[in-house]
Amino acid sequence: MGGGIAQVAAVQAGCKVVLVDVKQEQLDKCMGLMDKLLAKDVAKDRLTEADKAAALARITTSTDMSAFGGASFLIEAATENVGLKLDLFRAMDSVAPSGAILASNTSSISITKMAAATARPEAVIGMHFMNPVPVMKLVEVIPGLATSEATLADTLALATAMGKTCTQSRDIPGFIANRILMPYINEAVQTLYEGIGTVEAIDTSMKLGTNVPMGPLTLADFIGLDTCLAIMQVLHSELGDSKYRPSPLLVQHVNAGWLGKKSGRGFYDYRK
Ligand SMILES: NC(=O)c1ccc[n+]([C@@H]2O[C@H](COP(=O)([O-])OP(=O)(O)OC[C@H]3O[C@@H](n4cnc5c(N)ncnc54)[C@H](O)[C@@H]3O)[C@@H](O)[C@H]2O)c1
Repeated sequence: MGGGIAQVAAVQAGCKVVLVDVKQEQLDKCMGLMDKLLAKDVAKDRLTEADKAAALARITTSTDMSAFGGASFLIEAATENVGLKLDLFRAMDSVAPSGAILASNTSSISITKMAAATARPEAVIGMHFMNPVPVMKLVEVIPGLATSEATLADTLALATAMGKTCTQSRDIPGFIANRILMPYINEAVQTLYEGIGTVEAIDTSMKLGTNVPMGPLTLADFIGLDTCLAIMQVLHSELGDSKYRPSPLLVQHVNAGWLGKKSGRGFYDYRK
């Protein structure tokens, strides 16, 4: 997700971007993928070769958070884990210049909680992009309890410059999109678990029956089953309603390391 956000920031919004990850191989993978995607845009006359080169030159990478030292807007898009995100917000708060906005691409975790881990809760906000970022138009913007009007206005302006359409959600677990999408995906997994239909039958029923571009199990593999499980666990624990209980089959897939497309296997096998 982080690579996609960096791409639209550099290409559409013309921003200088610093992309930080703990793993150098992830940064190399992101830059390689970006180069491929932008080459496709050049081939389709959506971008000139010079604009592609200029956009890529605006992005630098680092495995060190201090590289954010001159940034005016930071967008966190690390693994969906509350402890990790609280640590990251503390670290971002300590390296970012005063006045910089700290945003999170979290799918479900409380913005208010992340804001409270910093000394600038008024400058913390949710900025939830959809995957794949260069293709999907939506950004959900989520002010926390302490977020200022100025932070909200700057965030909406940046998302618009990135070519996105924004919706605004209250800071309640799952926000709008995942409050609706994740229970749907979880129910598809539960339908498989109960033997009601095969993987293909479930996906085809929903694809052809509800006119969506992909079935829920294909979509789950694309999102990442670990991310889907993490979101269901947040909905379940924070809202306390048993209807959000993660399907045991989803838990089992994650335990097996079958995380979907990114690991080569999920509900489908991508290794062939
Ligand atoms: N996958 C989706 O479809 C999707 C859609 C919308 C939002 N999101 C959200 O975006 C975030 C990332 O999702 P993802 O699917 O890319 O997750 P992922 O687990 O596949 O990738 C997360 C990346 O974060 C890096 N990372 C982990 N700890 C870090 C740290 N301390 N500092 C810097 N980098 C660190 C990892 O190396 C990895 O490259 C999550 O909050 C997720 O909920 C995901």
